[in-house]
Amino acid sequence: MLDRRHFLSSAATGVAASLAFRSKLFAQLQKVPPLPDRSLLDKNEDAFWAEMRKQFIIPDDEIYLNNGTVGSSPVPVLRAIFDGYNTTEKMDQQDPEDYPIWGYAAWNEFRDPLAAFVGCKRDEIALLRNATEANSYIANGIDMQAGDEVLMTDQEHPGGEHPWDLKAKRYGIVIKKVTLPRPVKDAAQVLNLFNDAITPRTRVLFFSHITTFSGVVLPAKELAALARSKGILSAVDGAHVPGMMRLNISDIGCDLYSASPHKWLMATKGTGFLYVRDEVIDRVWCTIATEGWDDTKIRAERFQRIGSSNVPALWGLRASIKLANDIGMDRIERRHRQSADYILGEMKKRGAESWTSPDPALRCAIVSVNCPPVPRMDLENWMWKTHKIRIRGGDPNKLRLSTPYYLQKKDIDRFLDKFDEYKKRAGLA
Ligand SMILES: Cc1ncc(COP(=O)(O)O)c(C=O)c1O
Repeated sequence: MLDRRHFLSSAATGVAASLAFRSKLFAQLQKVPPLPDRSLLDKNEDAFWAEMRKQFIIPDDEIYLNNGTVGSSPVPVLRAIFDGYNTTEKMDQQDPEDYPIWGYAAWNEFRDPLAAFVGCKRDEIALLRNATEANSYIANGIDMQAGDEVLMTDQEHPGGEHPWDLKAKRYGIVIKKVTLPRPVKDAAQVLNLFNDAITPRTRVLFFSHITTFSGVVLPAKELAALARSKGILSAVDGAHVPGMMRLNISDIGCDLYSASPHKWLMATKGTGFLYVRDEVIDRVWCTIATEGWDDTKIRAERFQRIGSSNVPALWGLRASIKLANDIGMDRIERRHRQSADYILGEMKKRGAESWTSPDPALRCAIVSVNCPPVPRMDLENWMWKTHKIRIRGGDPNKLRLSTPYYLQKKDIDRFLDKFDEYKKRAGLA
């Protein structure tokens, strides 16, 4: 057991360590050069992205190829989060009833830029913590009878699929799946698969806009139209989309959409959203209930009434939207595509089987390649522990390579060299 003197001295050490850490991180944030001027993008694209790399606190000798799991927040986002704490934690809000607790209010200063960024109305969007939470709200919120069907793909993430599994176990709904080809050849192939699997009991089409498994960009607009034409709800898991590709949810025309901007928009961890088309809002139940849960006048805000939550996270989200707008989503998407196409081409030259669509419209910044007999977990460990290169994949032999915009060609080439080296060492070349 700690005696008092020991406790006080260890507490003092802890405080000193946390102050040292804080000042180091603050110092690091202060040291970062200003954002490169957007005009540099027109003059010298590579130089612009090389400058942007400096906005990330990922160490210079690390290569991060896994925005597919989560993105690293750049300095403008980190600064905004700190500013958020600095401003709100003083507890000196003008209105005595105002506290920094997202979860009881509209937070339009955060919803407005987000709604503009993803192409919908403020009243159709609820700020949540991630796509898993939003997908759970969707599955829990829609009325279905035992025997009613939800149709999804065989490439859904656990955070998309399991909310429906829960509903199936609890209420007897039925989950049906279409098997996506590896790779998906074109949009018509996907549409036919879904169309053929729809039955009179199908109530919901649920699919990832970009799948976690292969990174295929599914034809969301066409699938939503197919669902609508048959009176079926369309719910899209767009975890990867904001920040990776331009997004206009209203144009897609789906009924529900979930996302995790902490992946490709590189927003604060724990910032997600749920979109519910205005005409559908009144049909969806809240999953978490507090004041306002049944107030249909507040539209989708009802779904973000989740109790006390973390407002500075939203400062970071807003900053990540501003950064993407300042650079331009068209330029970001183009960069994503260029880097991903380069890595895909190089992996194919090395004999990898592409599970990434050959149709450029059905791929963006996630490349998925099958590389038998390379054991992916051993490769993943070796890449990280020996060379500070972070990749991910799926057993036994699939690699999933994500290409965030700040990645340099030299980074990709270093990964490729190490991939060759691994194969030689393992006698697989
Ligand atoms: C398609 C898809 N949906 C949902 C998720 C879960 O995301 P989160 O953990 O941010 O809820 C992921 C994560 O990789 C995903 O790829």
